[in-house]
Amino acid sequence: MRYLPLPRRAVPVVAVATIIVLAWLGWGSIRHPEALWAPGDVSRYHADVARCVDCHEPFQGPSPAKCLVCHSEKRFASRSKPAVRDFHREVIAQQRTCLACHTEHRGALAQITTNAMFNPHGEFIFRATGTSSCRACHEFGPDVVARPTLLDNEVVRQLFEEGEGAHHRGRMANCLQCHVAGQMEIEDHEQEK
Ligand code: HEC
Ligand code: HEC
Ligand code: HEC
Ligand code: HEC
Ligand code: HEC
Repeated sequence: MRYLPLPRRAVPVVAVATIIVLAWLGWGSIRHPEALWAPGDVSRYHADVARCVDCHEPFQGPSPAKCLVCHSEKRFASRSKPAVRDFHREVIAQQRTCLACHTEHRGALAQITTNAMFNPHGEFIFRATGTSSCRACHEFGPDVVARPTLLDNEVVRQLFEEGEGAHHRGRMANCLQCHVAGQMEIEDHEQEK
């Protein structure tokens, strides 16, 4: 006699239940794969343009080779800033994984670049100085992830002067630390020290 872990009469019931669950999963996977399988919503950058299989090898993880189908060297060359283009050309040549710096499924509005150059000044920087680009004061080297260098130009010199002694080199990047809530004038000079 074969060993059955279930009473003989339960076997057809279990078999039917299994088939129903599999059918439901299969149908759901085709209709709404994200609801069943994805760990979170795909970002707004990809939600409308990429299907699961555009980024994932079936039964494996996301694959950089698949990212490159859309984000080819050519595409970087035609639409990215020179620093970003050169940087990614090297990443591609060295076959480094995109996933070291980019993620997905963090929600529609999430940033998908992790090690991105971050902006320590907030939107305040543009309002306070009348500039509109990081490049008004910085130069970004070929290594996109590294810190930008500060230019020595009129805008930057003026910014140092406007601090009335409070804008110290090497200690002023976090504007909002003193310009609390984005205010321009600082009554209480306590915070300078
Ligand atoms: C634009 C590319 C992209 C699309 C489209 C995409 N994914 Fe992903 N997915 C990723 C990346 C990248 C990760 C790894 C996230 C991380 O580790 O930060 C991931 C992770 C996952 C994971 C976690 C397990 C693993 O393999 O790392 C699952 C499950 C998953 N995706 C399912 C889906 C499903 C289902 C869809 C379709 C609705 C989908 N994904 C669409 C890029 C994508
Ligand atoms: C089906 C094509 C397609 C695939 C596959 C794809 N992308 Fe995209 N991706 C796009 C489009 C379209 C945009 C919108 C911006 C653009 O046109 O470059 C975008 C935008 C991005 C951005 C820019 C986000 C920003 O902050 O501006 C990053 C980073 C990115 N993708 C990384 C990836 C990674 C990593 C993968 C592989 C896991 C991947 N993409 C797979 C089409 C694709
Ligand atoms: C070492 C980190 C790193 C790796 C690895 C990396 N990226 Fe990026 N990527 C970045 C950073 C940082 C930016 C944002 C640059 C900026 O906005 O100035 C970026 C921007 C992008 C963009 C937007 C381009 C644009 O024109 O603004 C796309 C698309 C992208 N990456 C795709 C990829 C793909 C595909 C791979 C894998 C072949 C990859 N990245 C590997 C760090 C990385
Ligand atoms: C009006 C000039 C100006 C603009 C515009 C500007 N910055 Fe800065 N940035 C500065 C100054 C000044 C410092 C501080 C230098 C110091 O402390 O010696 C700085 C420092 C930094 C640092 C180094 C932070 C640290 O902790 O050392 C980074 C990163 C940075 N900026 C990124 C950005 C980015 C990204 C943008 C655009 C969103 C931007 N900056 C726009 C003036 C500017
Ligand atoms: C250590 C504290 C501190 C930091 C950090 C700091 N500031 Fe200031 N800032 C001051 C003080 C103090 C003044 C002069 C008092 C005043 O004008 O009310 C000032 C004045 C200014 C003024 C002139 C305002 C006016 O109405 O004349 C501007 C513009 C300015 N800061 C922008 C910035 C920017 C942009 C950053 C970041 C890159 C920054 N500050 C970082 C303390 C700071």
